[in-house]
Amino acid sequence: MDSGVGGLSVYREIAEALPSEKYLYYSDNANCPYGEKSRDFIIQRARQITDHLISEGAQVIAIACNTATAAAIATLRAEYPIPFVGMEPAVKPAALGTVSGVIGVLATAGTLKSSKYLMNRDRYGSSVKVVESVGRGFVELVESGRLEGEEAESTVRASLEPLIRSGADIIVLGCTHYPFLLPVLRKVASQMGGSGIRFIDPAPAVARRLCDVLKEQGIGSEGLDAPDFSYECSGSDEAIRRIMLNLHV
Ligand code: DGL
Repeated sequence: MDSGVGGLSVYREIAEALPSEKYLYYSDNANCPYGEKSRDFIIQRARQITDHLISEGAQVIAIACNTATAAAIATLRAEYPIPFVGMEPAVKPAALGTVSGVIGVLATAGTLKSSKYLMNRDRYGSSVKVVESVGRGFVELVESGRLEGEEAESTVRASLEPLIRSGADIIVLGCTHYPFLLPVLRKVASQMGGSGIRFIDPAPAVARRLCDVLKEQGIGSEGLDAPDFSYECSGSDEAIRRIMLNLHV
């Protein structure tokens, strides 16, 4: 589940790691973006979506959204008997990999102010300088399919600029919508002299974690020849159809 199509950047990796499973993707796009919504609202939506997914037979739920993970995963884990796998900005690998000693984190306002993120940053980012920036307008670009062009570039430039100016050599993509903007992020970064900047997307690590959870719990293994994927949206399904067509998800 995600607030929109962002979670498909995670699904791509999951489907590659676990190709013989059955998947139901839920896009809460009638309530997108989550980034500026209250924690209580996101918890309430996460519960409703969880109830629905379980009623459809879900045995494990990937919260393919950093904002919803930060707001709701602890509550969901306490209230439901099934396992949840969540997203977290990849501060640890970035802190281990930086040469300049400065890492950038691009995420939503909700993620950056959450206690889950702040604890993660204190735990793994204390030996480096961590500079944060909200990807303002990024989710809207991805939901509307405007992944390139002048508008995408200027939107991305405004949020990247403070990170590049501060000398970050690794930038963590802390929102699942942002990997869909990687081509424009790379282009704009190199225009600003940051061609060597590395962007980290935690989706492959989350897919590995999901593999472990399935093994540990002895669930899954539908034995299909290819992933059986279906989706539902709380709003229009235009965005999801477009992104699946363009990105061969
Ligand atoms: N894709 C989401 C995330 O990873 C949420 C974006 C939003 O709805 O603001 O944070």
